[in-house]
Amino acid sequence: PDSLINIAIDGPAGAGKSTVARLAASKLHMIYIDTGAMYRAVTWKVLSTGLAAHQIEEIAQLAETTEIALEPSEDGQKVFVDGVEVTEQIREPYISQKVSHIAKIPSVRNRLTSLQKQMAIHKGVIMDGRDIGTHVLPDAELKIYLTASVEARAKRRYEELKAKSHEVPYEQIVKEIAERDHTDETREVSPLRQAEDAVVLDTTGLPIEAVVHRIIALAESRMTSAQG
Ligand code: CDP
Ligand code: CDP
Repeated sequence: PDSLINIAIDGPAGAGKSTVARLAASKLHMIYIDTGAMYRAVTWKVLSTGLAAHQIEEIAQLAETTEIALEPSEDGQKVFVDGVEVTEQIREPYISQKVSHIAKIPSVRNRLTSLQKQMAIHKGVIMDGRDIGTHVLPDAELKIYLTASVEARAKRRYEELKAKSHEVPYEQIVKEIAERDHTDETREVSPLRQAEDAVVLDTTGLPIEAVVHRIIALAESRMTSAQG
C-alpha cells in the first residue's frame, strides 16, 4: 500500500484549498476532508433554527447535539446535517457571511476539531481548513499554507458565482473576503495562521494544475521519507 501520511492545507478564502486538495487526493488515492464544510453545516443548522450568532450558549448546545456527516462523492464530498443533505445549501452567500462568526465560538471549535482528529486517525487524509496544521493535525507529515492576493481570490469567487448565474458585485466580494480573513485571523481560539513548518505556496496567477503538481511532488517525497 501507499505509505500513509496526512496532509494539512490551510489558508484564506479563495486560495484554492478545496479545488487543489480534491484533485491531489484523487491522484494520491487519499481521502479529502473539507473542514470548512463542517463549520458551514453548523452555521446552516444555527440559522435554520432561528438562532443569531451572539446566542453563544444556545449555539454551543446545538453544536453538541447536531450530527454532522461527510461522505466522499464524485466531485468532492456530500454534507449531511442530522441525516439531511445540505451540500448545496451550505455554499449560499448568507452562510458565507455568517460562518466565521459561528466558527469563532470555542465550543463549536472543540466539537468539530475532535471530530476532525478522529477522521484522520488512520492517516491517508488530505484535510483543508484554517487551523489544520496548527491545531487539528499538528503532526501531519506535510503542511501547506496556500495563499493569494485578496484581489485574485475575490476574482475567483466572482467567476465561480457568475458561472452559477449568481452575479454579486466584485467590490462586495472583496469586502466580504477581507472581513472574513480579518475575523479568522484575529479570533482567540486557533486563528488562521501559517504553521511554522508549513510550505507556503502563493497561488496568485498560478494555474490549478501547477499547484496540484507541486503538492503531489511534495507529498511523494514525504511518503518516501515516511517509509524510510
Ligand atoms: O471555501 P471558503 O474558503 O470560502 O471557506 P471554507 O473553507 O468553507 O470555510 C468557511 C469558514 O469556516 C472560514 O472562513 C472559517 O471562519 C471557518 N473555518 C474554520 O474556522 N476552521 C477551519 N478549519 C475551516 C473553516
Ligand atoms: O477552498 P478555497 O476557498 O481556498 O478555494 P477554492 O474554492 O478551491 O477555489 C476558489 C476558486 O478559485 C475555484 O473556482 C477555483 O477553480 C479557482 N482557482 C483558481 O482559479 N486558481 C487556482 N490556482 C486555485 C483555484
